[in-house]
Amino acid sequence: MAVVIVVGVQWGDEGKGKIVDLLTEKARLVVRWAGGANAGHTLVVDGKKYVTRLIPSGILRSGVTCVLGEGMVVDPAVLVEEIRTFRAQGFITQDRDLVVAERAHLTLPHHREIDRLREERPGSIGTTKRGIGPTYESKAARIGLRVGDLFRPERFRARLERHVTAIAPYLHELGGAAPNAAEIASSYLALAEEIRPFVGDASRTVHDAIKRGENVLFEGAQGVLLDLDHGTYPFVTSSSTTAGGACAGLGIGPTLIDHVLGIAKGYATRVGDGPFPTELSDATGELLRKRGNEFGSVTGRPRRCGWLDLPAVRLAVRLSGIEALALTKLDVMAGLDRVRLCVGYRLNGRTLDEMPLDADDLAAAEPVFEDLEGWPDAADGAVPPGAARFVARVASLVGIPVWATSWGPGRLQTVVEHNPFAG
Ligand code: GDP
Ligand code: IMO
Ligand code: MG
Repeated sequence: MAVVIVVGVQWGDEGKGKIVDLLTEKARLVVRWAGGANAGHTLVVDGKKYVTRLIPSGILRSGVTCVLGEGMVVDPAVLVEEIRTFRAQGFITQDRDLVVAERAHLTLPHHREIDRLREERPGSIGTTKRGIGPTYESKAARIGLRVGDLFRPERFRARLERHVTAIAPYLHELGGAAPNAAEIASSYLALAEEIRPFVGDASRTVHDAIKRGENVLFEGAQGVLLDLDHGTYPFVTSSSTTAGGACAGLGIGPTLIDHVLGIAKGYATRVGDGPFPTELSDATGELLRKRGNEFGSVTGRPRRCGWLDLPAVRLAVRLSGIEALALTKLDVMAGLDRVRLCVGYRLNGRTLDEMPLDADDLAAAEPVFEDLEGWPDAADGAVPPGAARFVARVASLVGIPVWATSWGPGRLQTVVEHNPFAG
């Protein structure tokens, strides 16, 4: 048995959903620990596309329990929509296919409204406008409502009244309307009925599965560089995206974790604002965006594209204790004569091996590039030698092995060197 955490090592959208779906073949539980409907994970199986938002990417495999952990923020309208969609497609056939943590916090309509209003003002950071930051703010301010409150209607209404009283002045200041507690209670308590069969103690569920010796896969959302504490602040999300966050988010002790794996694209993307030193604003960036279909699965925004930033990857590897990397979207890079790797940064006459996190240092730092030969499209599934050299160079420069490479969105378009659940 193994307990494995998988994290994205860039700014999200590394292809985590695809790889998690693949690894779920051998997992019993797939667990999300942070974030909410800001995530969008795309899975392609037998030519059919599925997108998960709150539900972990193990949902397509029968016999697998998908867990939404305590550290997540749950928008019940999105969750109900997602449950209905997957059910209509023949998934989530039993109550035990899904566990929603009763202590996860609820995104309320005005959390989304606050997010939206702030994004219209100077100093915006390009959020997904799904209310993620404001929900975590309510949680930290101890005025949040939790999934479990939905099933104690009197308590829900009383807590909601207190919450609305506390948050209304801020909404007013932003130019938003005061929340209508009665309307929220009526719509949320109705949605609760569809969630009820799945609500439980996620922490205990995961803990007991690990103790029974089951294979458990923790699926990171976002990416390590978007971590609230260790990312490119303030252009980050509002939760803990590092592997350590999995333990905090589920209330699982670090001694129960066996492996941590990372996922990176062969190039880099970022959606939203914030520093991106290897960004390509030229035809190559445009080509990667087109070939890679780099448009946000949640917001449809074009993703900014650039070269793979190894000092950033090294930082993520250190922050999450990553033992091996998967490299995705190598097919998208095929056909380029030359590909580049950022191998270090120069700042004030010094060479840095990790991306600096201070905003001013990062703005002043100059990426140092190494050029490699490109590769043609892979014929008959064989890895082109140029791509193999690229992969080997990444492994050598980061100092950890590459455990899988991905050559298309489909489940089967993957070369797995080492499956962490294989024993
Ligand atoms: P996630 O948020 O990390 O799960 O990634 P997203 O699903 O948001 O974005 C990755 C996109 O790339 C999705 O549309 C995937 O279907 C697609 N994808 C994943 N791996 C590959 C790959 O190796 N090649 C290609 N062409 N597309 C891929
Ligand atoms: P997945 O799980 C890419 C980014 C937003 C913005 C910042 C803050 O699909 O990889 P938020 O709405 O979280 O307050 O936005 O974080 N962001 C993501 N970017 N993929 C994601 O998720 C993201 N989740 C948040 O674009 O820059
Ligand atoms: Mg995504």
